[in-house]
Amino acid sequence: MNVLLDASTIQTRIRELAGQIEREYPAGEEIHLVCVLKGGFMFTADLVRAMSTRVTLDFIAVSSYAKSTKSSGEVRLLKDLDSGLQGRHIVIVEDIVDTGLTLTYLQEILRARSPKTLRTACLLSKPSRRQVAVTVEYIGFTIEDHFVVGYGLDFAEQFRNLPYIAVLDDES
Ligand code: IMP
Ligand code: MG
Repeated sequence: MNVLLDASTIQTRIRELAGQIEREYPAGEEIHLVCVLKGGFMFTADLVRAMSTRVTLDFIAVSSYAKSTKSSGEVRLLKDLDSGLQGRHIVIVEDIVDTGLTLTYLQEILRARSPKTLRTACLLSKPSRRQVAVTVEYIGFTIEDHFVVGYGLDFAEQFRNLPYIAVLDDES
């Protein structure tokens, strides 16, 4: 496996993103992060620790992939949020935007819950793979069309623990 983004590169970029997010909301207003499980767990953990404004957290789980590196195009809601979103500033925190199908689905269902604002933060973006146009306000890194693992991202549930992001050798 080739390292694409090492741990310190990721951490530096996350601190920048956290600062940018905090500056773009009115001072004193709470930001509610919605972590998309499972892939978004490590990014969320580091992003939230780099933030010093009022911030709350919730978790949602969706599934769009079986044991394959190809998107099925099907999105299923596996775990819903614990609390409502009405009148709140929501930031969806996701690991990667690939075809855009997962985020489009998530943005639709969360927007229907009447948040005050709804934005999205993704650590990675693979624009060459996009099938639907989706708005992502905060992007950590734009990458080429490689299947990547580590830092929350998996292949068949493996490699989520790596503190860096690597390209999987065998793209089977
Ligand atoms: P999309 O719906 O095609 O945009 O895919 C989004 C989801 O697919 C992400 O949240 C990941 O869980 C998964 N995914 C997409 N690309 C990769 C990758 O390169 N490595 C690991 N997971 C990926
Ligand atoms: Mg994911």
